[in-house]
Amino acid sequence: MRDPKRVAILISGRGSNMRALVEQANGYTVALIASNKLDAGGLEWARDHALQTWAMESKGTGKEEFDRKMNAALDEHQVGTIALAGFMRILSPWFIDPWRGRILNIHPSLLPKYRGLDTHAPAIDAGERVRGCSVHIVTEELDAGEILGQAEVVIERDDTPETLERRILGVEHQLYPKVLSEFVIR
Ligand code: GAR
Repeated sequence: MRDPKRVAILISGRGSNMRALVEQANGYTVALIASNKLDAGGLEWARDHALQTWAMESKGTGKEEFDRKMNAALDEHQVGTIALAGFMRILSPWFIDPWRGRILNIHPSLLPKYRGLDTHAPAIDAGERVRGCSVHIVTEELDAGEILGQAEVVIERDDTPETLERRILGVEHQLYPKVLSEFVIR
């Protein structure tokens, strides 16, 4: 039985957004932290905080095989909502279809502008004045699903991709828990 208020957070790396979602959990329970990288830094933090974890190396594993195994782990923990938090792997249509409308992602740009990876430098080069982050529903098309919330960051004259990334990350940590809390009760 899938309970919308039981959330799985999917990570591939340090998991700073995962941490924000755990620390600011309001109206939802973090039922599982799942990762496609065995050495994801966020896993250690999750274990230290007595959270349930599941990890499997996706490199060298068939796309659907990985997704099937992860799906079984999600079901085992009665997960009803999935929050991608720096999960750097494209999910298969086999996985997305039955979870349609229940998978969220955070992306470091004001979608629909700048989909994909490494977009801070192109945005600075293009003379953009404002950047930010978006929480959106995951569909088969990359970074293209319904936008649930956004937060803006003004680009300063001396910003580099690194300083911008850091400032946006800080804003992500405020936006994502707020949007997820609203999402699980809608
Ligand atoms: C975050 O900036 C997140 O928006 C981005 O990866 C970073 C993960 O950091 N996600 C994407 O670019 C997804 N396309 P974290 O592991 O510290 O949360």
